Amino acid sequence: MRTAIASILVAGLVVILGGLAFLYSGIYDVSATAPHWPVTRWVLETARTRSIKAHSASIEAPPGLDDGAKILIGVAHFAAHCAVCHGAPGVPKGDISTGLNPQPPDLAHASIRHTAPELFWILKHGIKMTGMPAWRDHSDDELWATVAFLQKLPGMSEEDYGKLVMASMTQGTSHHHSDSDQGRPGQTAPERHQHPEPED
Ligand code: HEC
Repeated sequence: MRTAIASILVAGLVVILGGLAFLYSGIYDVSATAPHWPVTRWVLETARTRSIKAHSASIEAPPGLDDGAKILIGVAHFAAHCAVCHGAPGVPKGDISTGLNPQPPDLAHASIRHTAPELFWILKHGIKMTGMPAWRDHSDDELWATVAFLQKLPGMSEEDYGKLVMASMTQGTSHHHSDSDQGRPGQTAPERHQHPEPED
C-alpha cells in the first residue's frame, strides 16, 4: 500500500516537473497563426460553453426585446462596434478580424446557439483569450438592445439590414460618443454611456 502511494506521488511529481519543463522550454507556440492542438481546442471550447451557461444562469431577459425601438438601438450598436469583427449581412469582416485566432464567428446563428441571457453575459463580459472584448462600459439597456438585434439576425437579408441601419440613423439612435470613442473601460469616464436613448 505504501509503495503504491509513493509511486502515485512520484508519478504526480514527474508530470508536474515535465509540465514545467515544457512551459519554460518555450516549445509551445502562442502565435495566432498556429492552429490549436485538438486537445487545447476541446479544453477551451468546453470551458467556454460551460462557463457561459453557468454564469448566465441567474440572468433574466427583460420583457419587450421584440420592440422595434430597441432593435434600432441594437443595430446602431452592432454596426458601430461589432460588424468590424463579426461582419453583418452584406458587410464583410474588417481587416482586424482576419488575423484573430480564434476567428470571430459570423453571428447569423448566435441567437440560435445561445439564449438571450447567455448573449447578454457574453456581450457584457467578453471571452478571455479570444479577442472578444467585454462591453461593460455600455449600459445594460444598450446591451439588451444589441441582444434584441441579434435575435432578429438569423435569416436577415442584406437589404433588411441596410434598411434597419438607415432607420436607426434617421431616428437618431445611431451610436455616437461625444468624447473619443476608443471605447475601452478605464480610458474614459465610466458613466459616459448612460445617456438616455432613444429620443422617441
Ligand atoms: C476585436 C474583435 C471583436 C469585436 C469588436 C467583437 N467581437 Fe464578438 N467575438 C470575437 C471573437 C474572436 C469571438 C470568438 C470567441 C470564441 O471563439 O470563443 C467572439 C464571439 C462572440 C459571440 C459568441 C458567438 C458564439 O456563437 O458563441 C457573440 C455573441 C459576440 N461575439 C458578439 C459580439 C457583439 C454583439 C459585439 C459588439 C458589441 C462584438 N461581439 C464585438 C471578436 C470580436
